[in-house]
Amino acid sequence: MTQTLALAHSVAGQARRGPVAFEQRNPAVPDDLAVLGPEADAALVAEASATAHGAIAAMETAGIEARADALARIGRTLTAVADRIGLLIARETGKTLGDSKGEVLRAARIFDFFAGETLRNIGERYASTRPGALVEVDYAPVGVVAAITPWNFPIAIPAWKIAPALAFGNAVLWKPSEISSATADALMTIIASSGLPPGAVNMLLGAGAAGRAVVEADGVDAVTFTGSVATGAQVRMAAASRGRRVQLEMGGVNGLVVLADADLDNAVDCAVNGAFFAAGQRCTATSRIIVEARIADELIAAIRKRVASLKVGDPRDPSTQIGPLAAPRQKALISRQVSQLESGGLRPLFGGSAQQMEHCFYAPTLFDHLPADSVFAQEEIFGPVAGVFRVDDFDSAVALLNSSPFALSAGICTRSLLHAEQFKRRARAGMLMVNLPTAGVDYHAPFGGSGASSYGPREQGRAARTFYTMSRTIYQRAL
Ligand code: UN1
Repeated sequence: MTQTLALAHSVAGQARRGPVAFEQRNPAVPDDLAVLGPEADAALVAEASATAHGAIAAMETAGIEARADALARIGRTLTAVADRIGLLIARETGKTLGDSKGEVLRAARIFDFFAGETLRNIGERYASTRPGALVEVDYAPVGVVAAITPWNFPIAIPAWKIAPALAFGNAVLWKPSEISSATADALMTIIASSGLPPGAVNMLLGAGAAGRAVVEADGVDAVTFTGSVATGAQVRMAAASRGRRVQLEMGGVNGLVVLADADLDNAVDCAVNGAFFAAGQRCTATSRIIVEARIADELIAAIRKRVASLKVGDPRDPSTQIGPLAAPRQKALISRQVSQLESGGLRPLFGGSAQQMEHCFYAPTLFDHLPADSVFAQEEIFGPVAGVFRVDDFDSAVALLNSSPFALSAGICTRSLLHAEQFKRRARAGMLMVNLPTAGVDYHAPFGGSGASSYGPREQGRAARTFYTMSRTIYQRAL
């Protein structure tokens, strides 16, 4: 029997219902779960914005220790319920059970990290050039932060936007993806009982219209967005034209360079993990495998063998390694992109349109012999699809890698210290991986890219403070 979850928005700690505007089903087993949710409109978002301003004042009065305690409590609760929310993520988004539980624990660590940061919002003090005066710098809250979060990391990405926002004294209008709203609701419930003032975080459900309302609402001071390139461009315009601070994390067409001297087993691990794990639905996924031609056949044969051994199936089954795409619309999009490549004359080595699968499953797909100007460098394919580029040497590998407008993550597999060093200097990306997959990042280090991938200050770790605070320079003379 299908379990149906009917969700409500959360404004000032109150559940606010509305007519059903979207539905998300378990993308692997549609009869298992149906999540129904409403769409936030401008009036509700205005109310949330007003209550958020009140919550900022209440957080200021309560002080930093109260906020640190609340964030630590959220972290502890998430750890305690990781199994339950992990299963919900698997059922709602199709992410494998192991990845889903791991992500809840990652979110817990993020809240824990920012509980500490709450107490480390350290300012500076300068001697003034004017005798008798002094100069101080402090880091004040920006104000009300609109956070728009995607479905592919349905709890970690909300955590790495909401936790630093709160740590530095901001309130949040949160618009989660309509594909992962039940997961959002589970996190919201935990946040709501953490001891923060009501309205410190408000959850506004829905799709594009709700997102627009949140970005455009009066009283919003900053907008942080992770999602598609097309939506990111709209968010950037809407936020910037209203004078709002904006941070965008969008796509990647990340390249993994494999040199002939690489440890082949490790290179296969990196390529398979980066290209196909999480069904390729990570902005840090590997879509371009750039390999020195003389080892290309050997590498591809080993990748093929490894992929054939992966268990694609029900994400609720702990032995499943690859789940489905997150929703029918994602499958339609990936199918269209792959069909276009095929009608342009490319034939996949495995997977592709010929290998149809049920529901939202999409077979891991690998193209070979891609020309340097292939669409693989220009357009993100947010699914288990990658392409092999054969190159003559390190220099042409780096040139090819850097030919993309995206610059999020890039990797190299090599045993050469010299090439690793040159790669670190020359590869154009915000995150560089040496003998590691392009995807999979730590939660306490800065995250982000440049070019078409990212805009604005880095997320995560100590770097997060830049976006979530306004530095103030204070000149003072005591009389
Ligand atoms: C990771 O690779 O561990 O949306 C994180 C994404 C990224 C997060 C990737 N913002 O896929």
